[in-house]
Amino acid sequence: MRVLITGGSGFVGQRLCEKLLALGHAVQVVSRHPDKAREKLPDGCDIRDSALGFMDAPPQAIVNLAGESIAGKRWSEAQKKRLVESRTKATHQLVTLCEQLKASGQPVPKVMISGSAMGYYGDQGKRVVTEETAPHDEFAHRLCAKWEAAAEPVEELGVRLAILRTGLVLDSGGGTLEKMLPPFKMGLGGRFGSGKQFMPWIHRDDLVAAIIFLLEHDALSGVFNGSAPHPVTNAEFTRTLAGQLHRPAIFPVPAFVLKAGLGEMSRLLLTGADMRPARLAEAGFEFHYPTLDRALAAIL
Ligand SMILES: NC(=O)c1ccc[n+]([C@@H]2O[C@H](COP(=O)([O-])OP(=O)(O)OC[C@H]3O[C@@H](n4cnc5c(N)ncnc54)[C@H](OP(=O)(O)O)[C@@H]3O)[C@@H](O)[C@H]2O)c1
Repeated sequence: MRVLITGGSGFVGQRLCEKLLALGHAVQVVSRHPDKAREKLPDGCDIRDSALGFMDAPPQAIVNLAGESIAGKRWSEAQKKRLVESRTKATHQLVTLCEQLKASGQPVPKVMISGSAMGYYGDQGKRVVTEETAPHDEFAHRLCAKWEAAAEPVEELGVRLAILRTGLVLDSGGGTLEKMLPPFKMGLGGRFGSGKQFMPWIHRDDLVAAIIFLLEHDALSGVFNGSAPHPVTNAEFTRTLAGQLHRPAIFPVPAFVLKAGLGEMSRLLLTGADMRPARLAEAGFEFHYPTLDRALAAIL
């Protein structure tokens, strides 16, 4: 299958490209900087700077991951706009690609897996959260809702659409864990605020496997939570990580310090949702790393 990936040069995309190539698929990547992307990706990826650049090699499947980093910068109004527009524009370009393929009599992709995040649900306190749970209205929710809505028009063109609301992606070599490890390794780690907020997480290999599972199962469409079946609170995460590193974690970071330092972005650390992958489980997807202990043992 020819699979086109936006954001293929990223933390998730790189592993996805490797895995798809290993399975014998042809991989196409849309990147703003093809030369830099080429350095990060295995040989054999066809990398171009726009989705429409692939009109002459129509993809049979699309995976849409591109977007400005959520935790990269403080959420000023300008940064919030960048977070939303980077995702909606990349997604609109995929819709345009599908429309133009159809208009020119070429086959449209069979399936599109489009990104979203646990942030869709907003702060849910202690409630168990499945795909059915009503969201809490806040910036993270509105960002994800706009990202999801931007993908929906492909359905009218006959493309099967699956949306993946991803939890915190864990692995070595990038993502949040890479930022958390230095203080924990020095014994300076600790919970954020009360530590009671949930942190749904997923091992990067399980996320890539879930994307491939959704690509391969023709009957699956709609929204899927992409996180391990055993989410933990921030306090449990802190204890488990420190335990695996054989270090103490006795330096909690008070909520007011995070709020003062990060502004509204501190909600990423201080709030959460007890998100469960109900629809992936129902579809028979099996997690290789269902528990945090197992995932961190493999990573560390
Ligand atoms: N990692 C996580 O824990 C996590 C959790 C939930 C959801 N997600 C979401 O899942 C997606 C993939 O995650 P990831 O960790 O692989 O992300 P990542 O490493 O930040 O990669 C995202 C890719 O998007 C492209 N990109 C960055 N800024 C952009 C902009 N302003 N406009 C257009 N494209 C831009 C970049 O590709 P080029 O530079 O090649 O264009 C980048 O490689 C992201 O959208 C992320 O928000 C991630």
